[in-house]
Amino acid sequence: MHLNQDERDMLEGKHGMGVATAMKILVGIGEAFQAEKMTKVSRVHISLSNQEGDLWFVKKLVEGGAKCKVMSTVNPAFNKKYFEKICTFTPQELQVHQETQNAYKKVGIVPTFQCTPYFENNVPRFRETVAFAASGASCFVNSVYGARTNRESSQSALCAAITGVTPLYGFLLDEKRKGDVLIEVNAEIKNDFDFQLLGYAVPQKMGSGVPVFSGIEKDPSKEAFMNLSTELNVHGVIPMFHVLGMTPEARTLNDCFHGEKPKKVIEIKNEDLDQVRKTLSAGKGEISFVILGCPHLTIFQIKEVAQMVEGRKLKTELWIFTSYLNKELSERMGLAEVISEAGGRIVEDSCVDQPIWAHMEGKKGLTESPKCAYYVAKRKMKLIVRSLQECVQAAIEGEVR
Ligand code: F3S
Repeated sequence: MHLNQDERDMLEGKHGMGVATAMKILVGIGEAFQAEKMTKVSRVHISLSNQEGDLWFVKKLVEGGAKCKVMSTVNPAFNKKYFEKICTFTPQELQVHQETQNAYKKVGIVPTFQCTPYFENNVPRFRETVAFAASGASCFVNSVYGARTNRESSQSALCAAITGVTPLYGFLLDEKRKGDVLIEVNAEIKNDFDFQLLGYAVPQKMGSGVPVFSGIEKDPSKEAFMNLSTELNVHGVIPMFHVLGMTPEARTLNDCFHGEKPKKVIEIKNEDLDQVRKTLSAGKGEISFVILGCPHLTIFQIKEVAQMVEGRKLKTELWIFTSYLNKELSERMGLAEVISEAGGRIVEDSCVDQPIWAHMEGKKGLTESPKCAYYVAKRKMKLIVRSLQECVQAAIEGEVR
């Protein structure tokens, strides 16, 4: 790989051993992907895991004197304020958690603890080169904003934050952003939830590559794009898509396929979405809990929940995960009070994938997010996936129909 003088100095330890380690890892990645050189990144998002390996790595960089060179936000973590009493962390695990957060703060991250940084705090522009970890986030910024990122890991994103560079390969290059498969949507897409189903169905049918959607008539909301990005890149490995006439690199089919023909054409019909609905949404009867916000709910979604529960008393637990900013806004707007009077809880800075559900083991509940169902099911809970509105209605009635 060709490195410029500054990059060579970093690699040789002239900026400290932490920077040298980060650079060595990036060079290794670059060589593995046959990148010819590095390119600058202007912002980074890191997906913490808060486990021992994560702590070991960030500590090694901190001890070597490394500091983030560019704006770097982080994914949610464990929020002691709500979960210290119900979590099943051992004291040692809690310690690892605390130390990881401290180490990340030392290395200079911006402690947003949010999985939708692309809506506020860390919003790249068209053609900006960035390093985003978190599968939904990398797919969203690539596709919806036309920014450029590879599907980074926590560690590669942190190395990019420290050095300010990343190897030039993959989705950072024009030619790799070309569409591979044309997805003709001949199905009714009525609401944001249908974009979850679409994002779940497409990887099963096409495998990997860059899909180009045509035939989507409903103008997708930002929540719809959030759902589509998350599902494509969680249930599949699809860090980038185009929607004809809607996303910035998809003005025409010619733009999407760079003047070439698609490698494959796939049709998505109502039956395909019904099939996913059958897999994810089947089940009826009494429920004990509803979990919303994987990824974090937006303020508009919180408002919708508040409108539905106003003046009611919920029959089940209702947990809403969101960013600190949306939590604050929901308080200012009186939504948090409405939800709390109904018996729901809004939690900021935290993630559904934590050992906080022991009291729900063996019980049945609902979520609006297939990703949440996937993670939380590991904790011996049975989750049915329905639209946000159906979830809230079920929390009010204590049962799902
Ligand atoms: Fe966010 Fe955690 Fe889900 S990071 S997307 S709430 S698994």
